[in-house]
Amino acid sequence: MPSEIILIAAVTVDGFIARHSNEITTWTKDLPLFKKQTMGFPVIMGSNTHKTLINELKGREVIVTHRDDNPKSILESISSKKCFIAGGGKTYSRFYPFLTDLYITPHPYVFGSGISLFSDKINESQLIFKKLVEVSKKSGMLQYQYKIQKP
Ligand SMILES: NC(=O)c1ccc[n+]([C@@H]2O[C@H](COP(=O)([O-])OP(=O)(O)OC[C@H]3O[C@@H](n4cnc5c(N)ncnc54)[C@H](OP(=O)(O)O)[C@@H]3O)[C@@H](O)[C@H]2O)c1
Repeated sequence: MPSEIILIAAVTVDGFIARHSNEITTWTKDLPLFKKQTMGFPVIMGSNTHKTLINELKGREVIVTHRDDNPKSILESISSKKCFIAGGGKTYSRFYPFLTDLYITPHPYVFGSGISLFSDKINESQLIFKKLVEVSKKSGMLQYQYKIQKP
């Protein structure tokens, strides 16, 4: 199992990652950073998210998960020390118990409704601030990196 299991997401100010399950994400500005950070590491995503991708992720093993897959078994099959959980809301929720880090980039949008970062019920966690990474100086966008405090 990787020692770092990192959720990476672009969120609206009201906590949504998409307007609906099959939205092709065109509103995010952090794709170059996503590419840089995930390059060379396995990237896990749900089948809905995989269907919305316009381009395959070059240079990364993409693991597409389905409802009958066991998140723990998937993670145990990875030999890399780091992997990324790239969405969507159902997949973030299913892998939540195993996450070590959150990389969150708030974007200047309010959707009002849609797919929440965690679309299924999860338990509360305390986060420890780790680092801020600049995404775009012009638009004042930053990526917030947190460690999840394990009980
Ligand atoms: N802003 C961001 O950073 C970001 C990142 C990633 C994705 N997104 C957006 O998120 C959206 C997709 O999120 P999502 O939550 O709909 O899908 P998802 O997590 O990408 O994929 C759905 C997952 O849930 C499973 N599933 C479906 N119905 C289920 C059920 N009744 N019980 C248990 N598991 C079930 C699916 O398995 P099966 O294959 O078996 O159906 C699949 O593994 C898209 O619009 C995408 O663009 C945004």
